[in-house]
Amino acid sequence: MARITAGVSTSHVPAIGAALDSGKAGDRYWSKVFAGYEFSKRWIAAARPDVVFLVYNDHATAFSLDFIPTFAIGCAASFAPADEGWGARPVPVVEGAPVLASHIAQSLIEQDFDLTIVNRMDVDHGLTVPLSLLFGQPSAWPCRVIPFAVNVVQYPPPSGARCYRLGKAIRRAVESFDEDLNVQIWGTGGMSHQLQGPRAGLINRQFDTAFLDEIVNDPERLAQRPHLDYLRDAGSEGIELVMWLIMRGALDARVREVHRFYHVPASNTAVGHLILENDPP
Ligand code: DHB
Ligand code: FE
Repeated sequence: MARITAGVSTSHVPAIGAALDSGKAGDRYWSKVFAGYEFSKRWIAAARPDVVFLVYNDHATAFSLDFIPTFAIGCAASFAPADEGWGARPVPVVEGAPVLASHIAQSLIEQDFDLTIVNRMDVDHGLTVPLSLLFGQPSAWPCRVIPFAVNVVQYPPPSGARCYRLGKAIRRAVESFDEDLNVQIWGTGGMSHQLQGPRAGLINRQFDTAFLDEIVNDPERLAQRPHLDYLRDAGSEGIELVMWLIMRGALDARVREVHRFYHVPASNTAVGHLILENDPP
């Protein structure tokens, strides 16, 4: 049986990728960001996932205002790093897990979560920056990845409660796959940030800290929080945080917090990062 062993959440700020790719990771500004992932790199080298189910949002790269799937699952054999306007990031092609992805798609649709099936797609910083943060700069990514894109770019995004329930359904889907696989689920984006309008640059450390505490210890309650709270308190792009609830829903009610990192600033964003392991029976 495939099992979800751990959850990871992390911000996905594109400038983090640019800093790594251009050899600036050791600079004063960036070394403080990367320091928060040193433990994580050692942890994941030991955890050795076979597959990462990677919840992220596309930033009008693969999708556009022409069509906006709320939930889209990548079933392709591979996904190329996207050109977001300044050339594709020099990172490895992402190898998919089409058989498992197709199984999850069928299971989720049977559990009444309507998905868009994506058989060809490039992946943007929302997906590649978290891979870089956890795996560094390898010549090939050490595991397969199922990209799962959530619309948090164009209003209305899915609610936190729906994301949390989706996480539970993903767990059932994974656990009904008849192959021994070590699967991790990652939720990316956030934390507080607003990239536009009069409140551009908004950071809310108090909100972020409470969110980190609550997603670990009381996710049922956190899942009830409406969109407007995110927009008001965490900024227009802070709504990316609902994706963390998909990750949390796929884990046990009680989890072990293995690692937490919070740092301001990275570009316009408060960087948050958690590693959660399912409690042993
Ligand atoms: C930034 C953060 C994001 O999440 C994003 O998608 C784009 C930019 C930033 O802080 O610059
Ligand atoms: Fe983003």
